[in-house]
Amino acid sequence: MKAIILYTSRHGCAEQAALALRSRLGEGTETVNLMHNYSPSLAGFDTVILGGSIYYGKIQKQMSEFIDREQSGLADKRIGLYICAGESEDKAGLELLRSFPESLCLKAKAAEVLGNEVKFSKLSLAERLVYRAVTGKSGDRGRLYTNRIENFVFKLLR
Ligand SMILES: Cc1cc2nc3c(=O)[nH]c(=O)nc-3n(C[C@H](O)[C@H](O)[C@H](O)COP(=O)(O)O)c2cc1C
Repeated sequence: MKAIILYTSRHGCAEQAALALRSRLGEGTETVNLMHNYSPSLAGFDTVILGGSIYYGKIQKQMSEFIDREQSGLADKRIGLYICAGESEDKAGLELLRSFPESLCLKAKAAEVLGNEVKFSKLSLAERLVYRAVTGKSGDRGRLYTNRIENFVFKLLR
């Protein structure tokens, strides 16, 4: 298996999830931040993992736009999908399904919410105000979900 992990992340949680997946998938696995590299080639990879984080109910537009452009290139790949999100179980599960086209969700071998992390000091002023208004909290919180990352890799390789 030769895998590439394509991710988008505003403050680092989805990036940490990508690195955690890479360390478990082995040497040849590549990671690409779609917010820096707009159009990486999928040639030579049989497995593509797509992951991002949710703000105001949506995954980053760089992820949605990449998927729109590459629908045909993704068709013959083994697919894994993930998000990092702060919502509770059911709502985050819905956000996961809404973040990716139905066709990808149906063919994905693994699809999971892999973390929720807020580094309060990294947020912009606007983000801090929204975050505090919605959650009533400030300060760093959250984590990567290590068990789910292990399970994600297990399902993907099965
Ligand atoms: C301003 C703001 C808005 C957010 N909006 C949502 C949201 O609509 N739904 C959700 O599940 N999580 C939301 N979150 C939580 C993030 O998705 C979560 O912290 C995620 O781990 C961030 O990942 P990143 O560091 O890769 O960007 C929000 C967080 C902030 C700071």
